[in-house]
Amino acid sequence: MAEAGIASRRRAEEMISQGRVKVNGRVISKQGSKVSADDRIEVDGKVIKREKKVYLLLYKPVGFITTVDDPQGRKTVFDLIKGITARIYPVGRLDYNTSGLLLMTNDGKLTFQLTHPSFLIDKTYQVLVKGYPKQSDFRQLEKGICLEDGLTAPAKVSKIVRLKANTLFNLAIHEGRNRQVRRMCQSIGFPVEQLQRIKYAFLDLDGLQEGEYRFLSPAEVNKLKKNLPSG
Ligand code: URA
Repeated sequence: MAEAGIASRRRAEEMISQGRVKVNGRVISKQGSKVSADDRIEVDGKVIKREKKVYLLLYKPVGFITTVDDPQGRKTVFDLIKGITARIYPVGRLDYNTSGLLLMTNDGKLTFQLTHPSFLIDKTYQVLVKGYPKQSDFRQLEKGICLEDGLTAPAKVSKIVRLKANTLFNLAIHEGRNRQVRRMCQSIGFPVEQLQRIKYAFLDLDGLQEGEYRFLSPAEVNKLKKNLPSG
């Protein structure tokens, strides 16, 4: 169901365990039951029409959250997507104060695979920190930082630029823990002042202004899917 864009994986699991889902007229109870394109899926007695897969690359500005709605009433990335009826969801998250590249899709299978920790997809962030980290600090970021949820995996620092009171650099990581880059920099004593995701695998923000999005080409989608673990 998540693959077909019917609901997020978690929602789909809930609906299955509540006995609300039928495949070809029979209630299913097993999570992860396989269905094919010809199978008839019903939720609460209503036949589900499958959506065409949609893949968007959004240049998220600061000041938008990446959840569907916000109890605090803040703007969400869905406010930036106009005229798309497919139920798309962000692939992972970017903080409210982080800008940059955010993929959105109704392809639940691809989302699951791209956000699975075993899939080592590189995400590159342009980081502006307060102060001047030394080479040894950058080496520490690369080797791994001990955070409260464990040691971070090896990362890569590049393009270091010293500014008046700050330092700008690129940090490529392949994990996706909550507020990971901010926590890594904070823990070596250099708080992040600005953060932007500039690359996701081979995709970048070229040609987009903040708040704009574009569709991925079929070749880009195929390239993303290539080398994914089967799942
Ligand atoms: N790391 C962070 O700290 N924040 C993000 O939004 C993404 C990665």
